[in-house]
Amino acid sequence: MSPGPLRPNPQPMLIAHTIEELRLHLGGTLRPAFVPTMGHLHDGHLALIDHARTLGDRSVASIFVNRLQFLPNEDFDSYPRTWEGDCAKLKARGCDVLFAPRESELYPEAQTVKVQPDPVLADILEGQFRPGFFTGVCTVVLKLLMAVFAGKARGVAVFGKKDYQQLMVIRQMVRQFALPIDVSGLVTQRAPDGLALSSRNSYLNEVERAEAVQLSLALRQLGREALAAASALPAHLPDLEAKAMDGLRQRGWQPDYLTVRRRQDLQSPQAGDPLVVLGAARLGQTRLIDNLEV
Ligand code: PAF
Repeated sequence: MSPGPLRPNPQPMLIAHTIEELRLHLGGTLRPAFVPTMGHLHDGHLALIDHARTLGDRSVASIFVNRLQFLPNEDFDSYPRTWEGDCAKLKARGCDVLFAPRESELYPEAQTVKVQPDPVLADILEGQFRPGFFTGVCTVVLKLLMAVFAGKARGVAVFGKKDYQQLMVIRQMVRQFALPIDVSGLVTQRAPDGLALSSRNSYLNEVERAEAVQLSLALRQLGREALAAASALPAHLPDLEAKAMDGLRQRGWQPDYLTVRRRQDLQSPQAGDPLVVLGAARLGQTRLIDNLEV
């Protein structure tokens, strides 16, 4: 089905807490369009729902805070759970089906069988600073995809480009397992000042929120400098990247990485490669990520 205009949705949103209920609700659906989330929904998620509604005959969202993708020192316990608000937003947006499994439904026993993504793609950038993160993501995403799409001829899953590396890792998994699923990436949604929308933005206090846009500004500047030095890539990159990280440090950030990569596989670029600039940095207690295709 080709993208079309959003249609009004007179049907109430159906909610499933088990895989069995989900499959009952999806009976008769030809091409589900699926948006997996961890909840605490913002306008970026809702744009994914809008996009999904143009791609399939029924839109499906999931809300599941996936323990497997959090390191022991990360915010799994404090990750905001905003069930009532999330349901209201999804209903208002015309989402057809919400899958909200309990942990015991997705992980009825310890999940000892896991999806190990290609380390060349998954152990760099986010994977370097959050070891095991993409194993946790791929494992839950594969389980969610199987829950939604089993028995369907074909479907579509929608992810935001804000998590650029995640989108690439999932595309590779879907391709290599020959899943009958198209993966659609949607452009990052931003606040008016340019900050990429993220559930974790709600951790920022007022001063941090005003400062937070500096990450995207630093990426933009790094992208401009990389393009200007394009004929000399990759020799100039380490200096440009170090300068960008220092700039953020001087403003009180703790950057993990700000780096220029080739879009195709996130490896170091050669002259002429299409580029993406990616960054992750901590502001106070909040770790933000962003990227720009330049
Ligand atoms: O991007 C996210 O919110 C999560 O990584 C995902 C894809 C829902 C898997 O838990």
